[in-house]
Amino acid sequence: TETAAALVERLTAVVPDFPKPGVLFRDVTPVFSDAVAFGRVCEALAAPFAVGAGFDAVAGIEARGFALAGGIAAQHQVGVLTVRKAGKLPGEVLSEQYALEYGEAELELRPGQLPAGTRVLVVDDVLATGGTGAATITLLERAGYQAVGFAALLELDGLNGRERLEPRLPVTTLGAV
Ligand code: PRP
Ligand code: HPA
Repeated sequence: TETAAALVERLTAVVPDFPKPGVLFRDVTPVFSDAVAFGRVCEALAAPFAVGAGFDAVAGIEARGFALAGGIAAQHQVGVLTVRKAGKLPGEVLSEQYALEYGEAELELRPGQLPAGTRVLVVDDVLATGGTGAATITLLERAGYQAVGFAALLELDGLNGRERLEPRLPVTTLGAV
């Protein structure tokens, strides 16, 4: 049987000049639409964090992290926290700004949805600079949760995302490109 890492490598599409000229975009949506691949990558992303104290919830980062978080949460019978781009969540929100390649962006989280101390696994499709992941970890900590791991399908070499996150929590990816 094909491993989760092999499925990610085979099914991920490489798209030149998206969303901007000069960017080589990794489109992981074919991994989501293949039932076997989706189930297997969700299992593999969570496996390193399911040992020991484990996790009590999964945080998905908008947008492709939502799909992975849902799959993992269903497999482990835990709930999902949605970490969203600014302006999408109603009511009380915590906000964190983070740097993009050019300019700034902002992520938000609704606090008070789970008990303080909840152990949260953070999930996204791609780890690049780690700015998105770092902002997410900070949001979870500000909400009183414990961010216990970061899992992504792919990490982009040379952008030091792993180096940025690993001082704060263990990082797992299924491939590097
Ligand atoms: C992409 C990707 C990660 C983030 C990684 O999201 O899905 O969330 O960038 O980059 P970083 O490690 O350098 O922060 P994007 O901003 O394209 O948003 P989208 O998922 O809404 O398309
Ligand atoms: N794909 C998805 N998300 C990303 C990428 C990519 O190639 N680069 C930075 N974030």
